[in-house]
Amino acid sequence: MTQDELKALVGRAALAHVVPGELVGVGTGSTVNHFIDALATMRDRIRGAVSSSEASSARLHAHGIQVVPAEQVERLAVYIDGADEIDGRGCMIKGGGAALTREKIVADLADRFVCIADASKRVEVLGAYPLPVEVIPMAAPQVARRFAAIGGRALLRQGVLTDNGHPLLDVHGLRIDDPPALEAEINQWPGVVTVGIFARHRASACLLGTEQGVVRLDF
Ligand code: A5P
Repeated sequence: MTQDELKALVGRAALAHVVPGELVGVGTGSTVNHFIDALATMRDRIRGAVSSSEASSARLHAHGIQVVPAEQVERLAVYIDGADEIDGRGCMIKGGGAALTREKIVADLADRFVCIADASKRVEVLGAYPLPVEVIPMAAPQVARRFAAIGGRALLRQGVLTDNGHPLLDVHGLRIDDPPALEAEINQWPGVVTVGIFARHRASACLLGTEQGVVRLDF
């Protein structure tokens, strides 16, 4: 199977985690796009979706699925999203699609985070994928120097601003042995809007697309 077929497989499998009669939290990316397409088949059985990006909102709208602003929601049963990397504890690197801030906000509303990913995303240690960090522009050079001090090489993502209008740094060369500690540390750096380590908001479960089918990991 191609990587995209594996993404489609887990996108469809995620339907089993959607709670009928409720709102569902929806992430961003090519794997989630498959999930949104599958979700259209049960749009009459959900109240709607809370979206993590303009791109996902547009796709949800195109399928006739109501998008409810996060501001109007106190709690979601489940948030479904992809990842750039996921480790054996369910900690993730996210933000390859530049949606990390809204993803973390919607994930924070949810009781459960179900990650959907093709098998290439499962890693032993996070960090081979460059770590996305959304920053306030005037802080970018200092944040980059802080990363250099811990062995990271931060590059400005060219030609990209997030849905919130901020630039992104992609940090190469990190080996993230303790995701909760590094997430907590980077969150203290002035000018960091969101770091793409999802440790506090790690996955509750992961549906991994493999050649043998969907493998469910619980964390
Ligand atoms: C979006 O900002 C990301 O967090 C995505 O969830 C992540 O990049 C996975 O994307 P794909 O599903 O496209 O691989």
